[in-house]
Amino acid sequence: MSTIVVNPTQNKKPINHPPGPNPPWPFGIIRQFQGRPLAKMEELVAQYGDAVRFRAVLHFYGYIFCHPDHNKHVLQDNNKNYTKLPHPSLLLMTPIVGNGLLTSDGEFWRRQRRLAQPAFHRQRVAGFAATMTDAANVMLDKWQDGQALNLAEEMMHLTLEIAGKTLFSIDLTREADTVGAAFTAVNEEIGTLTTKPFAYQRLRYVPWWHSTRVIRHSTAVLDNIVQKIINERRQSGVQKDDLLGMLMEARDEETGEGMNDRQLRDEVMTIMLAGHETTAVALSWVFYLLSQHPDVRTRLEQELAEVLANGRTPTMADIPQLPYTTMVVEEAMRLYPPAYALGRFGHQPDVIGGYDIPANTVITLSPYLTHRHPDFWEEPLRFDPERFTPERVAERPRYAYLPFGGGPRQCIGSSFAMTEAILLLATIAQRFRAELKPGHQVEMEPLVTLRPKGGLPMRVQKR
Ligand code: HEM
Repeated sequence: MSTIVVNPTQNKKPINHPPGPNPPWPFGIIRQFQGRPLAKMEELVAQYGDAVRFRAVLHFYGYIFCHPDHNKHVLQDNNKNYTKLPHPSLLLMTPIVGNGLLTSDGEFWRRQRRLAQPAFHRQRVAGFAATMTDAANVMLDKWQDGQALNLAEEMMHLTLEIAGKTLFSIDLTREADTVGAAFTAVNEEIGTLTTKPFAYQRLRYVPWWHSTRVIRHSTAVLDNIVQKIINERRQSGVQKDDLLGMLMEARDEETGEGMNDRQLRDEVMTIMLAGHETTAVALSWVFYLLSQHPDVRTRLEQELAEVLANGRTPTMADIPQLPYTTMVVEEAMRLYPPAYALGRFGHQPDVIGGYDIPANTVITLSPYLTHRHPDFWEEPLRFDPERFTPERVAERPRYAYLPFGGGPRQCIGSSFAMTEAILLLATIAQRFRAELKPGHQVEMEPLVTLRPKGGLPMRVQKR
């Protein structure tokens, strides 16, 4: 049931709040999210429905929405009312990614997006295909038959290497461990801070706080690498037409000015982070699910054998011939969307799903919850790639599935990511099978992205 209360400032027009827990001031439920943000969101939605309002702490409220119509309203129809900052979770990312594409807003964001967009056009992505599969084959050449390895880590190294080579024309293989450890530390720290009151303020003003120290240290490590990427390019004096080249050569139409060092650093850091971690996490979940569903794996292997006769390495041209492989990736991202929650800050009063939303609200949309919504997904917990046949996709509302978000802030790298995930899955599954370490229980770890907790211990077998 929703709560109808009288708003004394609006001529007693009743406010129709979404239902949800509203403990008396000054108490709130923010601490109940700690260590289990996704489980808590799931609980609230199960109890109160598709729209939930809860007192977080003091007079701060949070809103959760998970109906496709709500997603569409916030991300698309009324997107101008919703910005990234100052949503608390996104504020927490700013010490690392600064004012890059992921966190900036307004005219500034629009300009940056326009500058970066050409680097992600389909045709350009097509040119990256061979780099992607070559990197995968080099990794597979090192794998031994029967070897035990952490598949999540392998995927992280692989996608970082690919992002470095394709977008910045740099080989990051030697830095992979350092970058991986720094990003993991940041991911873990921010993941836990999102549910701590006043975390952003503490990060800014309390330098001796443990989290501040971890984040500052990791950011310094990452900054070194980003600076190295930029310096090497500047010193080489060579103009390349990769993403880095585009960003460095971009000039403002009116002033003719280029991007300053700080802005360039923020964009490179953003793309380095957003461009490898999510795809690596998506692939980890793919291999976990395949290990649990031998029937799906067999069908996938059949498709690969038919299309890529004699174990040929897949190319961009093969992708349309690999519909089942594509559906496996899509279905894995339905059950385990790497970006499991999207934050927005609503500026003007609005109405979402019939509920009144006041000005200045912190909103969370959850692809994870939408992707498991029983009204849109039959037997939502079942892993079934067939859900993504074109006919069945056409039956669902567009915003029932949003692993890449939607509207103007939709992921800039979605076709890069899909191309990469499909090609890497095809290359790897053709040569190896991966089985989960016996007795290992896979758990979700919802940090900035949705990772398998403690990685993915697997044993790989040559096919
Ligand atoms: C499976 C892989 C990926 C997933 C699931 C994913 C997911 C997302 C989502 C959901 C958003 C929207 C966030 C929001 O609305 O709040 C987003 C934005 C973004 N993604 Fe991705 N992404 C992936 C891969 C990539 C890759 C490969 C790149 C770059 C190489 C990338 C770069 C970005 C950037 C820069 C943004 C911000 C775009 C903007 O606001 O203009 N992502 N991503």
